[in-house]
Amino acid sequence: IGQKIVYVEETSSTQLIAQQLLHQDTPEGTLVVTNFQSAGRGRLSRAWLSEPGDNIAMSLILKPKLSMQQFPQLTFLASVSIVAAIKEVVGIEAQIKWPNDIFIAGKKVCGVLTEMVSDPEEVKAVIIGMGINVNQAVFAEDIATIATSLRLESGEKQQRSALIQAILVHFEAFYQQYLTEGFSPIKKYWEAHALQFNKNIKARTLKGVLEGEFKGITDDGVLLLQDAAGEIHHVYSADIEI
Ligand code: BTN
Repeated sequence: IGQKIVYVEETSSTQLIAQQLLHQDTPEGTLVVTNFQSAGRGRLSRAWLSEPGDNIAMSLILKPKLSMQQFPQLTFLASVSIVAAIKEVVGIEAQIKWPNDIFIAGKKVCGVLTEMVSDPEEVKAVIIGMGINVNQAVFAEDIATIATSLRLESGEKQQRSALIQAILVHFEAFYQQYLTEGFSPIKKYWEAHALQFNKNIKARTLKGVLEGEFKGITDDGVLLLQDAAGEIHHVYSADIEI
């Protein structure tokens, strides 16, 4: 992981560069990093905005031999690696909001976007995009109440390179563990850092709002929600309100 690092000063999105590299048969573990992303993409077709120079925008290419069902598990590898790296480098215990937003003190500090490149039989590659607010000190008014940065939370400027390195080292370790032992240890770590675990949440899905206790995730990364009647619901895609 991270044996090959491709740095571009500026790009529309590191996800697109990663896709282009795949056509050139780039090795597994290739990381694309940029200093400024002008059209960053978020989950659910949202935009991911980032100031030039302050933050981390990067995409990691993986080519595991996995079935279609297993691929969502890889996103969870990214979030646990980022939590471990933040703990190591910044000394702050961050939390994960399902599926893979990283939060500190109730505000989002990082988002993960996983895209797969596949044919009908198998997943050929997975591109894991990670956007981390590192040194950004000011946020636009409309997101200032929901977004934060590692600098704002720690009171100190953070070194982006140290964070990237720590994320790669942790990812490598979690990935090896995942390939040998399966998803279960990753899931354990994820659930131990999950925001609102065993607490009440609202899940805003396309079909409506579900309310209940957050009971963890399945091996496919599906959210488990237990309603007041005790019934367990599987939530595949939703916005979580806490
Ligand atoms: C989200 O929270 O919705 C996910 C945000 C993911 C942003 C990262 S930044 C690097 C990579 N390139 C992109 O265009 N998006 C991801």
